[in-house]
Amino acid sequence: MAGSWASIDDLRLAARRRLPRFAFDFIDGGAGDGACLARNVEAYRRATLTPRVLRNVDGDLDTSMQLFGKSWTVPFGVAPIGMAGIAWPGIDGWLAAAAERAGAPYTASTPATDTLEALRAAAPTSSWFQLYVGREQWIVDDLIARAKSAGYDTMFVTADVPKPGKRRRDIRNRFMLPLRPGARMAFDVATHPAWSMAIARAGSPRFQNFERYAQASSASSLAEFMASQTSGRLDWSLFDDIRAAWPGKLILKGVCAPRDAVMAAERGADGVVVSNHGGRQLASAPATLDALGAVRDAVGPDFAVLLDGGIRCGEDILKGLLAGADFVLMGRPFVYAVGAAGEAGAGQVFDLLRAELVNAMGQIGLRALADRAAFADCLRLEGGSAR
Ligand SMILES: Cc1cc2nc3c(=O)[nH]c(=O)nc-3n(C[C@H](O)[C@H](O)[C@H](O)COP(=O)(O)O)c2cc1C
Repeated sequence: MAGSWASIDDLRLAARRRLPRFAFDFIDGGAGDGACLARNVEAYRRATLTPRVLRNVDGDLDTSMQLFGKSWTVPFGVAPIGMAGIAWPGIDGWLAAAAERAGAPYTASTPATDTLEALRAAAPTSSWFQLYVGREQWIVDDLIARAKSAGYDTMFVTADVPKPGKRRRDIRNRFMLPLRPGARMAFDVATHPAWSMAIARAGSPRFQNFERYAQASSASSLAEFMASQTSGRLDWSLFDDIRAAWPGKLILKGVCAPRDAVMAAERGADGVVVSNHGGRQLASAPATLDALGAVRDAVGPDFAVLLDGGIRCGEDILKGLLAGADFVLMGRPFVYAVGAAGEAGAGQVFDLLRAELVNAMGQIGLRALADRAAFADCLRLEGGSAR
């Protein structure tokens, strides 16, 4: 059952009502004036699907997809989301468990509000780990060792945060961690009692993966320590070191330039995610749907290329796959669902997206995603170019 939700857009509106503004804006916002975020979403609105007809799509349609040696029930999963607990306490574990039940992957973020060990336990066969390379190498080494011993077999290294994102909505709201409530924030919290009570019961969200490092770090305060967890020092030589240290699948997340995807492949990556961090870093970055084709052409058909950014419904998922992605990820839609409907929302959002995908496949006459290559010419991206 998809609950009573008609769409991700409805979940977003419900989350906007239920969350304090600073929390909703942190999830919902993009870099600068939000141009890249809007471009990501718009690229899907503008792309069209031309239906094929008389193809008997009665009965079950097959949404399964192979990726990284595993068969997934659906071709979409949860992108890493740091600080998700600002939306609702418990969200990380709920989404991990719901993904496991749905046969979809869940990506545990380095700055998650639960530990990577707990999230692996919540999704023992379907979780991936996402690594940020912060300033201190010993912490990076320890995170990799912990991910290994927790049983993760797939790790994403995020490449697209060389500097912190400048998000105007957060700057205007004076949103920072730890939370320092001013008068406006106090009013915001007081006028969202369900959220306030949930936070009062659970405590303020914490970066649980880091707590054990904060004291041993050279940073002088927790705020400085957190700031040091993103850094611009990641380069190809460090990527080589991570490749040598990680025996499992290694994916570079946050690639838009074809040349970078080729370099990742040459240096032993098992895949890339065409991503601009959901438009949260560089307002001028291209829409990921538009960037995908050139990346796919550069790396060839056999290298894993995932896609995220701006996907908001089943038709969008299908468009991403027909445009050349092997799999898609979403960030905000999953947070909206829990923000709107709590733990139940975590399960409902998978049902909603799967039902929409099945419908979209039926509408264009595609019975099984495995046959999607024959349907690539149904997709027209902006400007009328077919792949
Ligand atoms: C609130 C928020 C936090 C995020 N935190 C991370 C993170 O910790 N690590 C990461 O690699 N990407 C992070 N991302 C980016 C997502 O993994 C993903 O690339 C993006 O959300 C996809 O765009 P969408 O939200 O339009 O689906 C975050 C995105 C959001 C919205």
